[in-house]
Amino acid sequence: MALSGHLSRAHPRLKDAIVFDLYGTLFDVSSVADTCEQLFPGKGNQLSQLFREKQIEYTWRASLTNRYSNFETITKRAILFVLENLGLDHSGKALESVQSAYLELKPFEEVPEALRLLKGKATLAILSNGTQKMIRAVLARSSISSQFDKIISVDLVRTYKPSPKVYALAPRILRVPRSKILFVSSNSWDA
Ligand code: LAC
Repeated sequence: MALSGHLSRAHPRLKDAIVFDLYGTLFDVSSVADTCEQLFPGKGNQLSQLFREKQIEYTWRASLTNRYSNFETITKRAILFVLENLGLDHSGKALESVQSAYLELKPFEEVPEALRLLKGKATLAILSNGTQKMIRAVLARSSISSQFDKIISVDLVRTYKPSPKVYALAPRILRVPRSKILFVSSNSWDA
């Protein structure tokens, strides 16, 4: 994804705030594949893709049924489901390693520079399905943590994207009208 190209086309100076999705937009979730590859050689990519699909499916189900569990729990359930279904070891150690991988994601290569260019031109924020703890864990290991003015988690409204309740958090918390916010996500359904 060419994040900087996308942003320049979107004329960020016309916006007061730029709000980013986290998983798959700022941070590369496919790096979970490396951990999976070490645990289950030859299956790294397949597993990380299946985890992501199941994780998102569980968020949608939680929203539709009004039964919210936070993203940490959902992620754990998704990993367990996939490992168990494929007949792979889902004992404590494998599960823990994959769960930790979600806290150790790396930003996409172009992200630090794109944020550096945008800093000061608009309020920069993250709006994510992740819990504050999960978001702050990945940020803490990166060089981009200080670029954000606000970190917003869906936990505040106890439902998931693409519920309108989630997106309504941004104007409310940033105190910026909706029309003055640019939302950036690599997920086609997250807009
Ligand atoms: C997030 C997921 C949807 O960060 O990527 O909210």
